Amino acid sequence: MEQQTLHELYIHELQDVLSAEAQITKALPHVITAVSDEELQEAYEMHLTQTKEQVKMVKSILERHEDQAKAEHCKGMEGLLKECSGAIEDFEEGEVRDCALIAATQKVEHYEISAYGSIRAMANVLGYAEDAGDLTTLLHQESQADDKLSQISHRLNQMAVGATA
Ligand SMILES: [Fe+2]
Ligand SMILES: [Fe+2]
Repeated sequence: MEQQTLHELYIHELQDVLSAEAQITKALPHVITAVSDEELQEAYEMHLTQTKEQVKMVKSILERHEDQAKAEHCKGMEGLLKECSGAIEDFEEGEVRDCALIAATQKVEHYEISAYGSIRAMANVLGYAEDAGDLTTLLHQESQADDKLSQISHRLNQMAVGATA
């Protein structure tokens, strides 16, 4: 493979995460209808709204450097989202399915946290201060979404133990 610049890698990573976010906006509505817990449903609805804004934010970062913000299909996210639909197929509606979906979607959040962490590190080195600021916002949003899911899973795991005992 040809030697490429860090800037090119940076653009590539942004295009990958743009695809990841776009895939999430298509998958979350299915997750929302599949879960039973109201608080969990609300958390996913809130994160769906946020994710749609994130797509715009990543596009605007890309547009600072490129004429067109194009996405590059993210196979990693495709796999993680397949596991989400697998959880819906494998478990009947109820607490255990909710727990399975929390487990699957926290993997999605961790992917995003890792992606934005790496991209922000590159933005800092490349001197793209405005991008780094936006990437910090994105990183915090993903961390908050992950924390919220951890908090809900604590309650739901306990309910699930009760349901199957
Ligand atoms: Fe996101
Ligand atoms: Fe997220």
